[in-house]
Amino acid sequence: MTPQEIKNLFSTIEQDHELVAAQMGLLKRITTTVLDTEGRDYDQALESLHEIERFMAGKLLPHFQEEEDGLFQLFRDELPGGPRLVAELEAEHSELRTQHEQFRAELALLNYLDESRHPVLLHLCSMSWQMADLLAKHAEKERQAMNDCVKRLLATGTAAEPTKSHSEQAARCS
Ligand SMILES: [Fe+2]
Ligand SMILES: [Fe+2]
Repeated sequence: MTPQEIKNLFSTIEQDHELVAAQMGLLKRITTTVLDTEGRDYDQALESLHEIERFMAGKLLPHFQEEEDGLFQLFRDELPGGPRLVAELEAEHSELRTQHEQFRAELALLNYLDESRHPVLLHLCSMSWQMADLLAKHAEKERQAMNDCVKRLLATGTAAEPTKSHSEQAARCS
């Protein structure tokens, strides 16, 4: 693993923090709207729910894919118990993908409801909190694993490998 690759992996973890914070901001808005107005400001509540759905589809799910394509391989290779940890993280991605699908389906239901829509708004809000809770715990687990990885890489000097191979190449050429 090169220093650049490690840097890229750090930016994935930084994205985690930003995503958790962004989702919390959206949640505060939707919860206030749904609870304070008892659904009277329906358009604003609906817009906030759509924003959460767009956030998940546009930011969170691509982030999961990016992790599955890069970060998780590092965890598998570098951490004792890495494969088991990755299996847990993948299961959590899968759970959040399923919850997103359910959220999207229920959100679409609102198009067909009239007076009875407030309980659905409350339920969607509650689902949003559940997803945020799972996401925050998941991101914390990834942050901890990344810390462990970096400590191990630094201890073994793996990150310095490209430099070593360059000097070996140089030695062979001389
Ligand atoms: Fe993540
Ligand atoms: Fe993840």
